[in-house]
Amino acid sequence: MNRNPIIPFILIMVMGIGLVFFMSLEGLNNSKEMAEEEKKHEEGGGGETASGGDFDPEAHYQSTCISCHGENYEGGAGPALKGVGERLSDEEIKTTLKNGKGAMPPGLVPEENIDAMAKWLKSL
Ligand code: HEC
Repeated sequence: MNRNPIIPFILIMVMGIGLVFFMSLEGLNNSKEMAEEEKKHEEGGGGETASGGDFDPEAHYQSTCISCHGENYEGGAGPALKGVGERLSDEEIKTTLKNGKGAMPPGLVPEENIDAMAKWLKSL
């Protein structure tokens, strides 16, 4: 055993530097990927809840409103919604969706989707 005692230290140092170098490359890669992901999200219209672009009023009705307003908008716990556009103004519908009314709870429609929901309701 006649090895130079310094050699293991040098080896460890070289490995350490290599590791740090490798990790910083990884880090760069990751942050680049993250930036690209974010860009994609912005371009894609902000996802389902944020923009209202993908909002489907009918699907929302079926999951959220049907229990009180009925399968065919004929009413039940709540009034019938057929022809609601003739009875109520745009503003009244939107206010109802936003703040609720009587036994109807507020906030059933996300703020950014209220316009789309009101428009759809008026077409019933
Ligand atoms: C918990 C039961 C309930 C749910 C769920 C509900 N509503 Fe209502 N809704 C009511 C009641 C009760 C009224 C009547 C309130 C009043 O006039 O005092 C009403 C009124 C309305 C009105 C006004 C109608 C009119 O002729 O005055 C609209 C529009 C409406 N709801 C839309 C919706 C939509 C859209 C949803 C789903 C996002 C929904 N509601 C979910 C109970 C409900």
